[in-house]
Amino acid sequence: SDSLRDLAARIGLRFGTAVIPTDLDTPSYAAVLADQFSVVTPGNAMKWGSVEPTQGQFDWSDADALVAFAERNGQLVRGHTLLWHNQLPDWLTTGVQNGTISAGELASLLKQHIFTEVTRYRGRIWQWDVANEFFLDANPSGIDPNNFWIANCGTEIIADAFRWAHEADPHALLFFNDYNIAGEDGTNAKSDAVYAWLRQMLAQGVPIHGVGDQGHLDTQYGFPTQMAADLQRYADLGLKVAITEADVRTFVDGPTTQVPTDHLATFAQPYEFSQMLKAALAVPECISFTCWGFCDADSWIPGFFTGQGYGTIYDVNLQPKPAFYDLQQDL
Ligand code: XIL
Repeated sequence: SDSLRDLAARIGLRFGTAVIPTDLDTPSYAAVLADQFSVVTPGNAMKWGSVEPTQGQFDWSDADALVAFAERNGQLVRGHTLLWHNQLPDWLTTGVQNGTISAGELASLLKQHIFTEVTRYRGRIWQWDVANEFFLDANPSGIDPNNFWIANCGTEIIADAFRWAHEADPHALLFFNDYNIAGEDGTNAKSDAVYAWLRQMLAQGVPIHGVGDQGHLDTQYGFPTQMAADLQRYADLGLKVAITEADVRTFVDGPTTQVPTDHLATFAQPYEFSQMLKAALAVPECISFTCWGFCDADSWIPGFFTGQGYGTIYDVNLQPKPAFYDLQQDL
């Protein structure tokens, strides 16, 4: 077939998407999800705030449903994400704020969280985004000292998270994931900092197996021409690489009931998706290309970037957009 997943399979690539519960519960969405994609990422369902909303009380329902869907449909799963400063449970952040959770307790709660979640899905997760978004955007560059985890526990917490995840599931590929780390910041300062840190971690034997560039682009900035070279530079450290959250925002409000017809949405968006896929295809160590949602009707963009939307490869009526056909062509 000429589905994205089948075309990608011929060249040893997994083509993926992030998934939200609506995608599984709506038959038309579920059909596209199963037909077109060979790897899925829970958009929110595996984040700490989702799985343990009350301390000691777990809700695995959405995560379990997605893993089961994937297994029924011959798809692999990218687990996302174990260590991040966002979407933490309120009880955790409040406890740290009011001093009822000490730094030492915070680290042991994290250890417990990682063991609980990774063990639950042991053997069923292909890639885990162990650590997400730790680096400053640039100038100064490096790990953000004000990051919730770094400020409370110190930088060693990142390496510890990888060690714990590896112990809990020795076969999962463990990823560091961040945005603007393949040339998107223009100066490349962020990529350089991540590269230097990864080198250091690997020299210390920390079990990191891959690096994910999220790939959130927009139609005004212009495509980062350095992307393939930066991905290759990570790969040359002995790492797998992946595009983990591809979308291309346009400056059209969305979702709407209409399909925008402005120039940037029609031409720049498919161009940037296509360039990003070509950058991924240029790197033999790139094992997956994942879109952050596949349909404009339920993309995260309008809720997050004021006045922007329409960033995915299917329109609000679940029809493939020009970007879809360009990706199909490139595979
Ligand atoms: C986003 C989800 O898509 C939204 O539904 C949620 O409200 C906020 O988080 N980088 C990441 C993802 O690593 O986890 C984020 O997902 C998007 C940015």
